[in-house]
Amino acid sequence: MKIEVFFSPAGVDELGMRGRNVVIIDVLRASTTICTALRNGAREVIPTPDIENATKISANLSGNSRLLGGERQGKKIDGFDLGNSPSEYTPEKVGGKTIIFTTTNGAGAVYKCRYAAMALVGTFVNISSIVQTIRDVGGTWTILCSGSQGAFSIEDATCAGMIISKVQAETEVETDDAGLTAIILHKNFKRSILGMMKKAEHGKYLASIGFGEDLKICAAVDSVPVVPTVDGVGIKLKASKLVVNG
Ligand code: MLT
Repeated sequence: MKIEVFFSPAGVDELGMRGRNVVIIDVLRASTTICTALRNGAREVIPTPDIENATKISANLSGNSRLLGGERQGKKIDGFDLGNSPSEYTPEKVGGKTIIFTTTNGAGAVYKCRYAAMALVGTFVNISSIVQTIRDVGGTWTILCSGSQGAFSIEDATCAGMIISKVQAETEVETDDAGLTAIILHKNFKRSILGMMKKAEHGKYLASIGFGEDLKICAAVDSVPVVPTVDGVGIKLKASKLVVNG
């Protein structure tokens, strides 16, 4: 198997992602929120990079079946129903709903993968389910880290390293220099994923605006064992075969 890693979506476009098998990572917090929303019964999550487009999509859907969710600067967008804290996406709020979702980095990264052969949303909370799917499908995979404003994020890169390390535990994996670097990060931080997030730039920012509890949710490995899969314009659940510690 081959797994390559992009540390940010800068320079990545839809055509470049076309036909690939991709895992998109935005640990803090879009990937975690998408997993939580779908696990808690949301029908689908429609990612879009901008607020204007989100509002347009929302206007075209029936009022009681959809919710607008997302953030800018980590905070709920004016007029939106939900922000980007996974804790907001409860079964009571999101059950049966279509979530139109726009975030600073993660939603745009997923959007860039809409012509991929297979595009999965991955993070620590669903990591073993993602690893199992990669093993089942085999072949060549790209891990696209959402990063931050086109730059590197340590939590996304560490998660990429955990994915590769777990796949490597059972299968021979060829990777690139970014993948090797991600593996080193994972080796360094695997005993304290939460500690790593607390030191990360975005982790510190989230704590400073009152979302420190979200770091714990986002660091809880295998707590939301789902495989969110891009399916046309939306992200939906794929049945998962969970193997923890694989
Ligand atoms: C993003 O997409 O940039 C993030 O998920 C930001 C956040 O923590 O809300």
